[in-house]
Amino acid sequence: MGDAQQQQGSEAGAAVITGAGSGIGAAIARRAAARGMPVVLADVSAERLEAVARAITDEGGDALAVPTDVTDPCSVDALADAAYARHRRVALLVNNAGVESLGALWDLPVDEWRRVMSVNIDGAFHGIRSFVPRMGTDPRPSRVVTTTSVGGIGTLAGMGAYGVSKHAAQQMTETLHLECAQTFPQVGVSVFVPAHVTTRIFEDVAHSAHAGESVDHWRTQLREKGMTADEAARIFFDGVDRGDFWICTHPDVYARIAGRRARLLAEALPPDFE
Ligand SMILES: NC(=O)c1ccc[n+]([C@@H]2O[C@H](COP(=O)([O-])OP(=O)(O)OC[C@H]3O[C@@H](n4cnc5c(N)ncnc54)[C@H](O)[C@@H]3O)[C@@H](O)[C@H]2O)c1
Repeated sequence: MGDAQQQQGSEAGAAVITGAGSGIGAAIARRAAARGMPVVLADVSAERLEAVARAITDEGGDALAVPTDVTDPCSVDALADAAYARHRRVALLVNNAGVESLGALWDLPVDEWRRVMSVNIDGAFHGIRSFVPRMGTDPRPSRVVTTTSVGGIGTLAGMGAYGVSKHAAQQMTETLHLECAQTFPQVGVSVFVPAHVTTRIFEDVAHSAHAGESVDHWRTQLREKGMTADEAARIFFDGVDRGDFWICTHPDVYARIAGRRARLLAEALPPDFE
């Protein structure tokens, strides 16, 4: 990339996306680049990350790959340092890295519980603490998006760790929305709520003994019922462009689950199966 192009990349607001090595994060990165944003890609899998960055660069985009473990605050600080060293402005931060987990609560190994909380909750928190203060010092508009899940508003038996982590990430994002409105009003906040999107997310739980046969069920669900990650990324940017707080891939599924939960809370009903 020539000096002029590098300078232009530095002036344009960058998009930083965690979990960009695969699935929804990779699709958001490709779409951001296609819209002319320089992208900073973060993932714990350096191999997947490099492949996505190379594909974007081959298409003429500006992509920087920064291998990052979102569970480690120092690693996310280093990501922010790398992003601001290359670009003067971060216009979009997507705290998207996430892992799935299956199995009854009492069957979950302690390490598995901690892994899920660490990636899905701590990871988003680390993104906020490393980036938002810097985004807040820039008077130009920017946005922070957390990828949660419809699992973050409902309750499913056999997906307890994931559900707990996504409820927490949902609450964290609502809090961030209020806190930015008070302190950094130019920093918008959104929650991206996917339902079924065809990705590799169940591959990492495929061999967990405690997950049992439900792994096959969920892999089939995503493969057969899922929308493509590219379509999810299109919906993502439609919502970002409108400045929506809630951005849902499947508004009908969201409405059904949210409606059930609202009734459950309003009428103080016990949890029920879907
Ligand atoms: N696919 C779906 O149907 C669906 C539904 C609801 C929510 N989501 C959420 O969407 C987000 C993206 O998931 P996806 O479906 O694209 O899955 P994916 O597995 O295809 O992508 C997730 C990426 O996150 C990365 N990652 C995992 N741990 C990490 C860590 N510690 N540090 C940095 N990166 C890490 C993985 O390496 C992977 O590349 C997740 O937060 C997930 O919970 C997905």
